[in-house]
Amino acid sequence: MMIINNKFRHTFHLMPKYGWMNDPNGFSEYNGIYHLFYQYYPYGTEWGPMHWAHAVSEDLITWKHLDIALAPSLEFDRNGIFSGSALQVGNEHWLYYTGHTDTYLDKAYDPSFKKIEEEVKEDQPIIRQVQCLATSKDGENYTKLNKPVIGTEQLPKFIKPEDFRDPKVWMHHETFYMVVGAKSVNDEGHVLFFQSSDGLKWDYLNNLSLGREYGTVWECPDLFELDGKHVLMFSPQFKPRMGHKFENVYSTMALIGSFNYESGEFTIESEKELDQGFDYYATQSLLNSKGERITVAWMNMWLIKYPLHEGNHGWNGSMTLPRVLSCENGVLKQNPIKEIEKYRKNKISHHEMVIDGELKNEHFNGYCQEFEMKIDMSSSTEFEIRLYESEDERFIIKLDKKNSFISMNRFYTKLPSMSTISPHDFTRSCPVQLDDKVTLRIFVDVSSVEVFINDGEEVMTSLFFSEKHSDAVVFASIGKTVISEFNKYEIEVK
Ligand code: FRU
Repeated sequence: MMIINNKFRHTFHLMPKYGWMNDPNGFSEYNGIYHLFYQYYPYGTEWGPMHWAHAVSEDLITWKHLDIALAPSLEFDRNGIFSGSALQVGNEHWLYYTGHTDTYLDKAYDPSFKKIEEEVKEDQPIIRQVQCLATSKDGENYTKLNKPVIGTEQLPKFIKPEDFRDPKVWMHHETFYMVVGAKSVNDEGHVLFFQSSDGLKWDYLNNLSLGREYGTVWECPDLFELDGKHVLMFSPQFKPRMGHKFENVYSTMALIGSFNYESGEFTIESEKELDQGFDYYATQSLLNSKGERITVAWMNMWLIKYPLHEGNHGWNGSMTLPRVLSCENGVLKQNPIKEIEKYRKNKISHHEMVIDGELKNEHFNGYCQEFEMKIDMSSSTEFEIRLYESEDERFIIKLDKKNSFISMNRFYTKLPSMSTISPHDFTRSCPVQLDDKVTLRIFVDVSSVEVFINDGEEVMTSLFFSEKHSDAVVFASIGKTVISEFNKYEIEVK
């Protein structure tokens, strides 16, 4: 039996009641209700054979959990229902997912397992990923098609059949389009574009790669139109760092430009890392009936050991706050969805609040809250917001004017979130000019912090766990920092 420890559970972020969660899947509006599926392993708090869990919502903040929608059951998805997307087709809800098979896992479950299409050399697993479809007439019960809609035989020769996953499907003028993540035989990340007239029979259209500098596998791609531009989002594995950009081993980024539906060519005008914190991956979007493009991502990261599994918390994984996207003069902005404001309580406001040295006030403390701040550092050099503050544990958001960046530091804790490959990696930084005024919106939810900078020009997201788990907030300034407008709200979701 799994015992759930509530100590670090969020209150206004979607998370499983128990078990392991990763990527958002099938994020869609179907018959006027939001559906969000996610990668799920119900039998443990580490990744295992993937299922699609299912939650529904009217405002993307309060969620109702439904039964698991998809579980491994067929020859071609027997080792996992990997990530994918959903859309409404007529009156039906269609889920496109990746069927994952892995002869190594077959052997792990059944050492005598022999039934595989190719001869398996000892210790050489054969992994295959194919694109599949399941449909529903009620948004609760899903029936799988008995064969994949795109098999590995449709792949261009330069793509590895073991890294071909995460289909995102959308309609453009009566035609279905699909973008899928992939890796080439020379280990470069790619996306592949397919098109179809009926959503069942698909033709290969084109591919895009930017070479090894952009990572090895491109996971969870998504393509959409936004304010007259096209945006291609994806999550590259092992994209090398560039200064303070792409500091995570796995990143999430967007290319902004234009997509030619005839040729399947994407022309790039600019690129952007979507979040400069520690914990943001595999983002997926939907277009709602109000015309808003909304994203959600897994608020977590591969190759980091969080203290949840070892600490027997009974759960592991959560989603970010949904964000609404806009593109102003080619600049992509991400802001928290408006609906969160319905849950604000007990507002505290200050004007021209001057901080010189340390400022503590128990009215600032709390586990579930939002801060809005307009900050003027013309008479200061550094300003810090310390969360979860106790004698030797704290999470620090630092505004460093001289070096022009905002950073997050999660070093000071007895329950560290440790990178499994770079053990001294406890800060993330985001270049921001601090000579002018800077605005911050910070959401704190028990063990998570999301910081929206300058009306969504940059975002930094991080989890934080500490032993004492204090709710104290401290502001600290070197020189005089003036908060010209300060609002604090509690966020209460029942
Ligand atoms: C991204 C990812 C996807 C895959 C899924 C498996 O986090 O690796 O590419 O479909 O997770 O759970």
